[in-house]
Amino acid sequence: SPITIAIDGPSGSGKSSVSKAVARHLGLGYLDTGAMYRALAWWCLERGLDLTDSAAVATAARELPLLMRTDPDAASVAVEGTDVTEAIRETRISTQVSAVATNLDVRAELRRRQRELIEQLRTERGGVVVEGRDITTVVAPDAEHRILVTASEEARLARRAAELHGGTAAEHLAATRDQIVRRDRDDATVSAFFEPADGVTGLDTSELTFEESVRAVLDLVAG
Ligand code: CDP
Repeated sequence: SPITIAIDGPSGSGKSSVSKAVARHLGLGYLDTGAMYRALAWWCLERGLDLTDSAAVATAARELPLLMRTDPDAASVAVEGTDVTEAIRETRISTQVSAVATNLDVRAELRRRQRELIEQLRTERGGVVVEGRDITTVVAPDAEHRILVTASEEARLARRAAELHGGTAAEHLAATRDQIVRRDRDDATVSAFFEPADGVTGLDTSELTFEESVRAVLDLVAG
């Protein structure tokens, strides 16, 4: 029978790479809901919209011509036929995405699309690993498995800094600190305070390697 594995966590917790690896290992689809908010932010900027114009951004969310490719080995995001997989990771998107993600009409529309994709992947692929901020609580509270991946602020900063290229380690850490700490605050209204909700298993990865984190999730799923 189909399974949904819902994984929430803050920036730098490792949830994206871990979720993708778990999906690959179990042969399931992979849905990165953060990429959907990022794609919307990208499209709004592309069209010159003011991100604080909530009515205009809500309309854009409903019209967004978004294609999520959910194969964990070839996950990608396209908007209006343009592959934006890389572009939505740019700093200008990371620093502005919270403005669209805190728009309640946007959340209603993207959650509707997420539930639709989850249903489709359950039917066509046997299930899905879906990751984000509100998956265990709002998007898929009935998921067979619900996990909140956390990590100390120190571990999260170090992981994000390690993803940057060029410059010194100290420069990376400083640049990342500003982004992560600020986004946590900007997201506070949508992501609660990262305490596992009732029935959700917390997994602290501060002291775990990537492989150990993947193993820990697989163990939880195997029961
Ligand atoms: O990977 P990272 O933690 O940097 O962020 P992400 O998962 O790509 O999500 C980007 C942004 O989308 C978050 O900072 C939230 O503002 C928003 N988001 C959300 O509101 N709800 C979700 N389920 C997923 C992401």
